[in-house]
Amino acid sequence: MKKIVILISGRGSNMQAIVETSIAEQWPAQIAAVISNKADAAGLAFAASHGIPTAVVVSKDFSSREAFDSALQQKIDEFEPDLVVLAGFMRILTPAFVAHYANRMLNIHPSLLPSFVGLHTHQQALDAGVKLHGATVHFVTAELDHGPIVAQAAVEVLNNDTEDSLAQRVLRQEHIIYPRAVRQFIEGKISVSGHHVTIADA
Ligand code: GAR
Repeated sequence: MKKIVILISGRGSNMQAIVETSIAEQWPAQIAAVISNKADAAGLAFAASHGIPTAVVVSKDFSSREAFDSALQQKIDEFEPDLVVLAGFMRILTPAFVAHYANRMLNIHPSLLPSFVGLHTHQQALDAGVKLHGATVHFVTAELDHGPIVAQAAVEVLNNDTEDSLAQRVLRQEHIIYPRAVRQFIEGKISVSGHHVTIADA
């Protein structure tokens, strides 16, 4: 049985989608833990109510980024994960942490990468006037939002879209592509070569 650790910072709706899909589809995998860097992350209650172990490693308790990442890594590794899933985990990670989980840490980013890295991606898309926007699942590498792309979903940008309306439509797609990508990973269907990802049967 493969083990997955999910990291969140807040609402945790992507984590929820992954947990619910793993149950509905009876994945040969266990969500071993949900870990947050914020004690008040709403998603922790959902995880606990599903019998999933939760932990909190509070970033502001540490004097440096390296010290925090090292404590976080120690906590994650207690659960011996095959895959680490960043689901709205709003931290920039140190190169050593990223290297430790090379090719076994996924992130979801709310844009069609390589467009619109960083924060406020929906406003960035509106400001740029793009007609298509979306979400990307990618492996995490040291360069922010630049790792090999596993999956993307596009939504049309409508004339009357606001940051919120666009975010909502993108989020619905996130909840489809992220569980699918995680499942493909745990089934061993994803291979990475340089910047390119190949998915068996896709
Ligand atoms: C999601 O839209 C995710 O793509 C985004 O934060 C939101 C978290 O929502 N992640 C990033 O912006 C990462 N840079 P959730 O907590 O409900 O899953």
